[in-house]
Amino acid sequence: MGAENVIESFRVDGKVAVVTGAGSGIGRASALALAGAGATVVCADIDGERAAATASEITAAVGNGSPAQLDVSIRADVDALATNTQREHGALDVWCNIAGIMVEGPMIDTDEADLDRIIGVNLKGVHFGCQAAARIMADQSTGGSIINTSSAAADAPSANVSAYALCKAAVVQMTKSLAFEVGRRHVRVNAVAPGFVLTSMTGRYFVRPDGTTDEEMREAVLGPMRKHTPLRMIGEPEDIAGAVLYLASDASRFMTGQVLRPNGGVAMV
Ligand SMILES: NC(=O)c1ccc[n+]([C@@H]2O[C@H](COP(=O)([O-])OP(=O)(O)OC[C@H]3O[C@@H](n4cnc5c(N)ncnc54)[C@H](O)[C@@H]3O)[C@@H](O)[C@H]2O)c1
Repeated sequence: MGAENVIESFRVDGKVAVVTGAGSGIGRASALALAGAGATVVCADIDGERAAATASEITAAVGNGSPAQLDVSIRADVDALATNTQREHGALDVWCNIAGIMVEGPMIDTDEADLDRIIGVNLKGVHFGCQAAARIMADQSTGGSIINTSSAAADAPSANVSAYALCKAAVVQMTKSLAFEVGRRHVRVNAVAPGFVLTSMTGRYFVRPDGTTDEEMREAVLGPMRKHTPLRMIGEPEDIAGAVLYLASDASRFMTGQVLRPNGGVAMV
């Protein structure tokens, strides 16, 4: 690779990518980034309308988006998404497990239903995605790249998010285990562990049910958060999408079993 074509290794032209959670936030931004860098992107979400909106946005901008509706906590949905993608597009090169939910509250009060719900989406959903994607990628001579979503919550423990953090820690371990197993088949498995990013997940602290923002509450939440972050920044979904694109592209071809931390410096591991 010479100086004149280095940027080409960061492109994903001709690759077929699946992004779960593509209807909102980090998933949406990652789908747009992958498409903008040349991939055909299947935008998957439990909210079919929002998946379709992201796919339409991609198609209008660069031409390569298609929507899919699924619940990642249902194994059959995930398997069908993987096999349908391969059948319709001829390959499956990139799989991003980004769909996720939050359950909050003190650990001693977390009830079993909430625990099952978050484990279903944030842990089993990622496990199912890893399995479905790796099975197909391992049979391709070109392999593939799987990108999971952990969180700074797994690096820097805090109160009231224990169920969420346990899932995100498990995602790191899954990433390493699978990376070990499928590396020789040219399948890479990595994770991103974002810090606090403004999305509908984090907006719950200051966005009212009618969609309007409580500005006072917004500053009360974001102000201290900014102050405790070395970069004095709150993340935007695009800040994470860049890391996802890097892990999807051949620029990261020597990287597997790793966790990238676009987190403003809030955790340094
Ligand atoms: N926002 C942050 O500060 C932050 C920080 C660290 C990690 N993360 C992780 O990033 C990922 C994306 O979060 P976000 O902040 O963009 O949230 P978001 O709420 O904006 O987007 C999450 C998307 O996942 C979808 N989804 C939820 N359950 C699903 C299911 N069962 N099947 C399919 N799709 C489902 C939702 O419909 C939504 O479109 C999550 O895994 C989250 O845990 C977020």
